[in-house]
Amino acid sequence: MLDNFKRIKKISDMAEGEKAYIQLGGLVSDEHGRLWLNLEGKVSTKGGSVITPVIKRTGKRKYDFEIDNNNAYTPYSVESEILKNDSSCICLDDFFEVGLKADIEIKKAESIKEKLSPLYNIFLNDEILNQVLINTNIPEITRGEKPVFSGVILYGEGGTGKTSLQKAIGGVYKNCGAIAEELNVASMSEKFIGSLGNNLDKKIGEINKESEKRNVPAFIFLDEATSLVMSRETHNSSSADYYQEAVDVLKKYISNYPNLVFSITTNAMPDIYDDTLVREGRLLPVLIPLPGMVEKTKMWEFFLDKYEIIKNLDKSCYQKLAEISSEEKGSFISEFAKGYIPGKKLEEETRLSNTSSILDSLSKGVYASIEKVKEKINFDIIFADLEKAVSKGRKRNRLKNQIGFKRFEAV
Ligand SMILES: Nc1ncnc2c1ncn2[C@@H]1O[C@H](COP(=O)(O)OP(=O)(O)O)[C@@H](O)[C@H]1O
Ligand SMILES: [Mg+2]
Repeated sequence: MLDNFKRIKKISDMAEGEKAYIQLGGLVSDEHGRLWLNLEGKVSTKGGSVITPVIKRTGKRKYDFEIDNNNAYTPYSVESEILKNDSSCICLDDFFEVGLKADIEIKKAESIKEKLSPLYNIFLNDEILNQVLINTNIPEITRGEKPVFSGVILYGEGGTGKTSLQKAIGGVYKNCGAIAEELNVASMSEKFIGSLGNNLDKKIGEINKESEKRNVPAFIFLDEATSLVMSRETHNSSSADYYQEAVDVLKKYISNYPNLVFSITTNAMPDIYDDTLVREGRLLPVLIPLPGMVEKTKMWEFFLDKYEIIKNLDKSCYQKLAEISSEEKGSFISEFAKGYIPGKKLEEETRLSNTSSILDSLSKGVYASIEKVKEKINFDIIFADLEKAVSKGRKRNRLKNQIGFKRFEAV
């Protein structure tokens, strides 16, 4: 027993070249589903499941680690704002943040195909994707030319891939040697919303300087920044003037600085946007819709493979999955796939321990290996599980609507 304890150490204390398994708490996720490594977390010589993946220390520097995070999963979730401010946490899924915080070398993509690769995991109908790519100057960027358009406002319901699309475009910019930077409205407002305009001005100014110095375009993107696209009339809170200041800062830069390309996501419809932000030559609003059957079929194939559930099924199988999830968003498919193997593993362990309680099964120490769990999975099982998940989701939505309705009546 004592021996086991001795073999547990802090991730930051690992020696160069050492390989071990991350223990619970060493990985956390944020509200965007991104994984973060907590250097204060522990490693042990035991593990290897999706919740205790392998980590290797590749060098002496603080951030020199290699982790198989493709398959990793964590039950712990912490807000990204908190993680960003914690110097012992590194974002694994988003190299923009890693790039800012750490000096990890990002491998330079060689071929154009490689440069464009972040976009291959985005499933959108061609017409809409083309519109976004044209207006964010992807053709020019890949050829090393100057940007032509000022950028886009991606709008629509949540879970349709707006954030992912914006990030993927940023990825292409970086792969092509250009600048891509995400700006965060919440962190720029700090404790006082009045500082937003100033901070935004300073930040965009810095990026512009850098892009002029390096003579490369810069992609500046803001996620869920509805307050920055709204017109003065639609800002009805006491902070309206401060937001207006920030919108004015954006207006100052958009289309006046040839290197800068902007992208903003929002769930608000164009009728409340500030006119001067979207007028000719400025940002083009593009509706990102729910995926159609074609995109959904591709998504099932992609996400079942990505999370190593099953691959190379017949096309008709992916179509069947798309059909029963026809009313779901893209985020439903990715979440289903991400949690599938860990869920099946727990299911198997509770079954083996003859209990319906995860707590009981955990305390009995029953363990099912991922390989064994995967062996039992086939299309019919996935289909049945998906049917259950879809109907559970619908029930929940119905309930939500009912509760909302009653509350409304009571007032
Ligand atoms: N059209 C899509 N293409 C690829 N992935 C998608 C798509 N729609 C949703 N997803 C997946 O769903 C999750 C949530 O998507 P996200 O980009 O955050 O949506 P939004 O910003 O519109 O709310 C992501 O993990 C992403 O992989
Ligand atoms: Mg989003």
